[in-house]
Amino acid sequence: MQKNKVYIETYGCQMNFADTEIVMGVLQNQGYEITNQAEEADVVLLNTCSIRDNAEQRIYGRLGNLKTLKYGKPAIVIGILGCMAERLRKDLIEDKKMVDLIVGPDEYRRLPEYIDTAFSGEKGIGVRLSRTETYDDIIPYREDGLQAWISVMRGCDKFCTFCVVPFTRGRERSRNLNSIVDEMRQLSNRGFKEVTLLGQNVNSYLDDENDFADLLAACASVDRSIRIRFTTSHPQDLSDKLLYTISEHQNICNYIHLPVQSGSNRILELMNRTYTIEHYLNLIERARKIIPGVSFSTDIIAGFPSESLEDHLMTIDIIRKVRYDGAYMFKYSPREGTKAYKMDDDVAEETKAKRLQEIIDLQRQISFEINQEQIGTEEIVLIEGFSRKSDQFYSGRTDSNKIVIVPASESIKIGDYIKVKINKASSATLFASFEGIIDVQKDALPLTA
Ligand code: 5AD
Ligand code: SF4
Repeated sequence: MQKNKVYIETYGCQMNFADTEIVMGVLQNQGYEITNQAEEADVVLLNTCSIRDNAEQRIYGRLGNLKTLKYGKPAIVIGILGCMAERLRKDLIEDKKMVDLIVGPDEYRRLPEYIDTAFSGEKGIGVRLSRTETYDDIIPYREDGLQAWISVMRGCDKFCTFCVVPFTRGRERSRNLNSIVDEMRQLSNRGFKEVTLLGQNVNSYLDDENDFADLLAACASVDRSIRIRFTTSHPQDLSDKLLYTISEHQNICNYIHLPVQSGSNRILELMNRTYTIEHYLNLIERARKIIPGVSFSTDIIAGFPSESLEDHLMTIDIIRKVRYDGAYMFKYSPREGTKAYKMDDDVAEETKAKRLQEIIDLQRQISFEINQEQIGTEEIVLIEGFSRKSDQFYSGRTDSNKIVIVPASESIKIGDYIKVKINKASSATLFASFEGIIDVQKDALPLTA
C-alpha cells in the first residue's frame, strides 16, 4: 500500500519546533511518509503559535492560501496543531470551516486516530491538556545535522498576566532525567554537536531529587564535544547551583537567556513576574562573578497596560545597565483569557511603536559596541555551514551564540570547532580569520578560548 504523505509547517518558539519533531516521530511510527512539499501531501499540518496576535494573523493568512490546495485536491486533510488549537477550535472548525483537524499540544500521541477520523469525513478534534504527558518514550524524527533540541519539560505555572502559554500548553511537568540522557547519547552517536534543552521555564525542572542543574550536568557529561545550551530561564528561579554548574562544565555555553520584560517594578508587579529589578540586577551580578565572561539575552515588552513614560525610561535604563548581547523585543499584544486582557490596553498604538523602536535602536547600538570590543580577541567557533551570502565563507557560532564568518578553506570541515581571531564586527555578525582546528575529544575539550 502506498504511504500517506504528511507535510508540517511550524510557527513560533523552539518548543514548537521540538514538538513538530515529536509529531513526525509519532506519524512515522504509524507508517506516514514525511514530505517537504505541501502540494504532494495527503495531510497538511500547521503547528501554530498564539503568543501574540500577529502570530495568529499569519496563520490565518496561510490557511487562506491552503484553501486553494484543497479545491484542487478535496481529499486532503488540513489540520491545526499547537497553541491555537484549544483557543480557536470553535472559530476554526465551526464558524469558519477552515480546517478538518485540530489537535492540541498534549494529544499528539493520538494524532493518527484523529487523522483517520478526518479522512473518514468527520472533524478530528483533540484539544485536552494533560498533567502528565511528556512524550518521554517518543523518539523525535530528526534529520542528520549539527544542532538539535530536546524538550525537557512542558507547560508553565508562572501565569505572567500577559501570557497565554499556561492556558495553551497547560501545567508544568518534567521529563524523566534518564530518558533525556538517553536522547543525548543517541544525538552523540549520530554526530550532533550542539543541543539546546528546552522548556518554558527550565529552572523549575524537577525529576525526583534532580533539579535543572543536575540535568544540565548529566547532559554535559555525555559527550564533551557537544555544546549545551538551554532556554528559557525565569529570573525568580535561577539558582547559584545552576550558575556554578555552568561555570564548571566547559561545554555548557556561557550564555543565559533571562527575560526581564520591563525595567519598572510597578509594571513587573502588574505582569506578575514575581521579582524586582533589584533582584534581577543582583542575579546578573552574581552570574558575572561566578561565570566570568557570561553573556545575556532577554525579552522585553513595550507598552504593557498603564506603562508611563517613566516606566518606559526604566526599561531603557535596565538595557543600559545590563548591556545584553541580544534581545527579543515586542509590542504588548492583549490575549484573550489572560489577566492582563481585563486591564485597559491604554498605551496608544503609536506610543507602543515609538517605545519599541527606541528599545530596538538602543539594543542594536549596544550589540554593536559589544561586538566591536571583541575585535582582536580569540574565540572558539563551531562551523555550521557556508555563509548565507557566499560559499567562499563559512558561518559558525561562538559559545555566546554570536554568528562568525570566516573564509572557507580546505583545512576546515563543517562540524569542526576552530579557533579564530575577530577582525571586524557589525551589530549582528563577527568576521574573523582562521587560527587553527581544535582537536576535540569526547571527554576533554576547551570550548571557550
Ligand atoms: N504581548 C507581547 N509579548 C508577549 N510575550 C508573551 N506574551 C506576550 C504578549 N501578550 C513575549 C514575552 C515572552 C516572549 C516569549 O514573548 O516577552 O518572554
Ligand atoms: Fe508565559 Fe511567563 Fe510562563 Fe514565560 S514564564 S511561558 S512569559 S507565563
